[in-house]
Amino acid sequence: MLIRKLRVGEMPPIHLLLLADPSPKIVRDYISRGECFIAEDGNHIIGIYVLLPTRPETVELVNVAVEEVHQGKGVGKRLVLDAIKTAKNNGYKTIEIGTGNSSIGQLALYQKCGFRITGVDFDFFTKHYAEEIIENGILCRDMIRLSQTI
Ligand code: COA
Repeated sequence: MLIRKLRVGEMPPIHLLLLADPSPKIVRDYISRGECFIAEDGNHIIGIYVLLPTRPETVELVNVAVEEVHQGKGVGKRLVLDAIKTAKNNGYKTIEIGTGNSSIGQLALYQKCGFRITGVDFDFFTKHYAEEIIENGILCRDMIRLSQTI
């Protein structure tokens, strides 16, 4: 598996981005402002992450997704660790990420990759997403904010 930056003019795989974020409008907004990195198995794209500069020396990992058939095999962890390394190499001092209160696996993954919970953006998903999101039998309402110094 090779992880590389998406080349200028190359289309990001929207179907993968939508796995992590059900809002096409929000996805379009951050891919226009951020940098996309893809994981390829041969010529096939199996994963993606997006880094978005937010404040001075701070970048947010706004999307990380792995094609369903390749999930659970360590690809997601490799992408998150690569995102942290890329952010550090590009001079950022802090990397942040946010996920739903119902995203149990994602909360585990991010903490295993060194992120710590810094706050809760209450009612973020109920305010900004038209459709109700339910995961692991839990209504997704709040965004759990995580961060790490790099
Ligand atoms: N409890 C404890 N650990 C858990 C867990 C749980 N419920 N669910 C996952 N994990 C751990 C795994 O054990 C693994 O850690 P390990 O390597 O120490 O064993 C780690 O989290 C992730 O495993 P990995 O195989 O690398 O994940 P993946 O390739 O399936 O990718 C996602 C993870 C989230 C990117 C992938 O499932 C995905 O694309 N989901 C849909 C999109 C999405 O939700 N993106 C995130 C939006 S915030």
